[in-house]
This record gives sequence, C-alpha cells and structure tokens, in this order.
Amino acid sequence: MFLSEKTPLLAVDIGTHSVKVAQISGSKNKFELMNFSIMPLKEGCIVDGVVQQPDEIVDTLEKMIKVEKIDTKYAVASIAGEAVIIKKIRVPLMTAEELSQNIEKEAEQYIPFDIDDVSIDFQILNTKPGPSEENQKEDTMEILLVAVQRDIIESRIDILYDVGLRPAIIDLDVFAMVNAFELGVDLKTREQEAIAVIDLGESFTHLNIMQDGLTAYTRDIPFGGSHCTSKLMSKFDLPYKEIAKLKFGVIPSEIKSDEVVEVIVKSFDKILSEVQKSFEFFSTTSNSQVDRVLLTGGGALISGVDGLFSHHLETPVEILNPMKGIKVNKRKFDQKMIDSMGPLSTVAIGLAARRFDYQ
Ligand SMILES: Nc1ncnc2c1ncn2[C@@H]1O[C@H](COP(=O)(O)OP(=O)(O)OP(=O)(O)O)[C@@H](O)[C@H]1O
Ligand SMILES: [Mg+2]
Repeated sequence: MFLSEKTPLLAVDIGTHSVKVAQISGSKNKFELMNFSIMPLKEGCIVDGVVQQPDEIVDTLEKMIKVEKIDTKYAVASIAGEAVIIKKIRVPLMTAEELSQNIEKEAEQYIPFDIDDVSIDFQILNTKPGPSEENQKEDTMEILLVAVQRDIIESRIDILYDVGLRPAIIDLDVFAMVNAFELGVDLKTREQEAIAVIDLGESFTHLNIMQDGLTAYTRDIPFGGSHCTSKLMSKFDLPYKEIAKLKFGVIPSEIKSDEVVEVIVKSFDKILSEVQKSFEFFSTTSNSQVDRVLLTGGGALISGVDGLFSHHLETPVEILNPMKGIKVNKRKFDQKMIDSMGPLSTVAIGLAARRFDYQ
C-alpha cells in the first residue's frame, strides 16, 4: 500500500476509558496538529484490553469522525494487554528476509498461545554477541519479538472497517507512547540513558523502558485508574460522576481532601510495586538502572502523581505531554484545553506520527 507524505493517517486509540483520535501534518520536527478529539466509552465496552461491545465503540467513533469532519480513509490503531507478547530473544544470525521465513519456528517456544492463532512481527536489535555467558555465541543475534493473538487484532480491525476506515497500520500502545515521546526529544541528548515511559491508563499501566533509544523491556501491568475509582467508591458515598471528579481535584465541601488524597495514594500501591518489580528485572538483565521516568496517560493528570512515583521509585519523574512537541494552531484549538489534556493524547499522537515512517 502506498502512502505519500500528504496522506496523514487517522490515529485511533481505543482505550478502556475513552476513544481518542488524532491527526498531524507536516514533517519531522515540524509537526502540526490537524485534529484531536476524545470521547468517553461506557463501562464494559473493553474489558482487560478485549473488545466486548463493538457496536458501542463503532457508534462513538462514528460520532467523533462526524463532529471533527474527518475525511481521511486510512487509519492507524493500536493494541494493548496481556494477549500481547513482547520479548527480547536470541536467534541464529541471519538476514531479515531469512528470519521472516523462519520466525514462527524461532518464536514458538516463547509464545504461550498456539502459534497458528498469533500474528508475529520482529525487529532486529543487535547482531553483536550478548553480555551474558549463554549469549556469547557469535553466530546469534538479538531480536525484539512481538506476537499478538489474531482475534484481538481482528476485533479492532473490524471496528475500523465498520466506521468506513481502512487500517493501514496496527501498532502497540507501548510502542506508540515512545514514538510520541520522541517527537519532542533530541535523540542525541539521551544516548546510554535508560528512560521508562509509563502510561497510566484505566485498566492498564503501560510501561516501556528504553535504552540507547531502543525498547529494552515492555509490560502492560493489568492495573490502572479503575482500581482508584473503585477504592474511592467504596470509601465515599457519592454518584459515579462525582467520584470521577475527586481524581480531578474537585472535592465537595463535606469531604476532607486529606482523606481523598489518602485513598488515591493507597490505590497506587499495587501499580508502584509492579513497576518497581519491572525496574528490578530490567536492572538485573541489563546491568543498568532506569535514569528517569516519564509519566503519561489519564492518571498522569492526577495532581501530585509525579511526586508519588519519584518518591517510591527514587528516580526523577516528569510528566510527558506530547502536544508540547508539535505545533498547535491557536486559532483552531483551545491551547489551554490541549495543554491540560496532553497526557491523554500520548498513544494517539504517537500513532499519528507513524505515517512518517513511510517517507
Ligand atoms: N483530568 C484528570 N484528572 C485526573 N484523572 C483523570 C483525568 N482525566 C482522566 N483521568 C483518569 O485517567 C484514567 C483514564 O486514562 P486514559 O484515558 O489514559 O485510559 P485509557 O486509555 O482509556 O485506558 P487503557 O489504556 O487502560 O485502556 C481514568 O481512570 C480517569 O479517571
Ligand atoms: Mg490508553
């Protein structure tokens, strides 16, 4: 399929809490926002990353396309969750073409699903021998193996077709968020550095640790903002809408803000301990430490969450807002609104930039 530079794809991030669509134009370092919109999904549309109510999602997406007057036909979407396997593995040294022919045989032992039910992709990372003894053989190379259950991909593709879009690329949330980060970064400044990008979503905490600009470790931790919401619901007798607002810092006068903060902080215990475990795994396998953390996703909008992570992980933490890396026309968009929602757009913006890989 030929996609010219003038054919911006419509990025569609179907999250558990909301759908985001984005489109950007221009070229590297000079990107401009063409479209961004976000619409909440009803509870139960996506459960644990799996589409459960496709019709609801199709309706939502159709509305967004209509309101935003989007006429682009090609889309880029993404997948997340535990049906996605991303692993660094070693395989015999061969060309990318040879590996394409042999990837199923090489990957089979690493995939906990039937090989016929998964779609496989790979990226050659390193053709040099590895640091550990067992990886010292010179006739091997390191690859990043990606395997996704086919029905998970198909359910997302079906949604796109149902709204009249043609899927050009299906990506992963953990790759898209790094792509969004790179829009605003001078790659030269971060050589050797290990950076963890953490997207605090509704049902997942998406994590990608990059080293030397390459993905070194990824994980979709199956806990997210919904856990915080249910903890707040069991503590405070308020309607769901009011509960959601507590996270935004809108606290009714009869409720003590200290109590709200305590519940929110406590609800992050599990996520923080899983992130910590991932960092430890990364440290032992790579012999290095995570140098800094970038928090993004809806959870990054909770006031003080950066301090909480920084304190627990003993690592500098910043908030990643990909809108800062692209030009936003003040006449077309409300800059304040775009700035305040930036972290919610990370996966969508990262996906929207994908088409430029075709240049
Ligand atoms: N302004 C805000 N302040 C605080 N929390 C917010 C704000 N906006 C959204 N959230 C919270 O962020 C979470 C949703 O984040 P996000 O949109 O990144 O998730 P998602 O992409 O839909 O889910 P997932 O990636 O897990 O499928 C919800 O728990 C929501 O309560
Ligand atoms: Mg998300």
